[in-house]
Amino acid sequence: MATLGVIKAEAQSVGLHLLAVGAAVPGEAVTNDDMAEIVDTSDKWITSRTGIKTRYFCRGERNVDLAYRAALDALVHAGIRAEQVGVLIVTTFTPDQMSPSVACALRARLNLPEDTVVFDLNAACAGFLYGLQTARQLLLASARPYALIVGSETISRVLDFTDRSTCVLFGDGAGAAVAELSTASPFYWLGGSREDAAGFLYCSGLWDKASSGAPSVVHMQGQEVFRFAVDIIPHCIDELLQKANLKLNDIDYVVCHQANMRIISHVVKRLHARPEQFFVNLQRYGNTSSASIPLALNDMRRQQKLKSGSRIICIGFGAGFTWAACLLTW
Ligand code: UT7
Repeated sequence: MATLGVIKAEAQSVGLHLLAVGAAVPGEAVTNDDMAEIVDTSDKWITSRTGIKTRYFCRGERNVDLAYRAALDALVHAGIRAEQVGVLIVTTFTPDQMSPSVACALRARLNLPEDTVVFDLNAACAGFLYGLQTARQLLLASARPYALIVGSETISRVLDFTDRSTCVLFGDGAGAAVAELSTASPFYWLGGSREDAAGFLYCSGLWDKASSGAPSVVHMQGQEVFRFAVDIIPHCIDELLQKANLKLNDIDYVVCHQANMRIISHVVKRLHARPEQFFVNLQRYGNTSSASIPLALNDMRRQQKLKSGSRIICIGFGAGFTWAACLLTW
């Protein structure tokens, strides 16, 4: 009989292949000049400090509406049928309601089989990458071949539009991927969390509401989060390259969580990397938390940057402080 170690090693050798990605954003783009009509800010400040030019805010749409459009886009591109999906994970910290999950409503709308494993996963801006690894493990036990992972956020619902230090940074959107197990597509993953006892980045919820009546909004001390980000990204890249026995030059693209251009530039400099290796689309969407990485992958697909065999490192980081990273082969 195989030992537990052997069973685990065999399971770990099964990679994850992304067949297709899709995306959705709500309404019309909100420019930096539009934001300057709401708070005391300017296009100059936002562009120079963050690189962001526009973002999208939901008007009437719910989280599940964005998730549905992104999921359908990915399913159509993958060319698979609803009854072939065994796992559906929605990653979000901004669900429409506490319970039931966005994933439950999405399963029904997509007509996925009733015995599909469905749930929401909250790992803040690292959520989508936690979702990929969780889907990989659940697929090992699924009778059906495909998983659908959807990062979907309606962050505008939890923004304080009197706080210029946060409200200009974030946006709404959803990105989705259809994934299958594959022995031909190695998948290296790591993740974790580092205590943020001081509360440098959080979105208050039930406890704050119950104890002080404070509304649920995002609070952030940007410089502390910046410090965390520029520490964890190179660490993740080094560790993944070591695991895969590769060098940074062997990687086609690095996709960081799209929070701030200065974070990405800082990392490029520190690693002596080629700037064009780091995909950037935060100028269009702002920080969309767990939707940012699939939104980036979808823009890369549209720009025909994703070729069969491309090696891509993705890194997510955010509240918690959580992080996750993966090296995947397209
Ligand atoms: O998804 C989670 C991941 N999040 C992140 O990665 C965020 C990481 N942090 C950052 O991206 C940056 O720290 C920010 C973009 C959030 C802020 O940039 P900063 O260079 O760290 O600015 P700051 O917070 O030190 O503020 C500098 C000045 C302050 O004014 P004083 O005190 O120097 O007079 C702020 O009040 O900029 C002011 N300020 C603004 N001015 C115009 C803050 N927000 C704005 C604004 N418009 N929107």
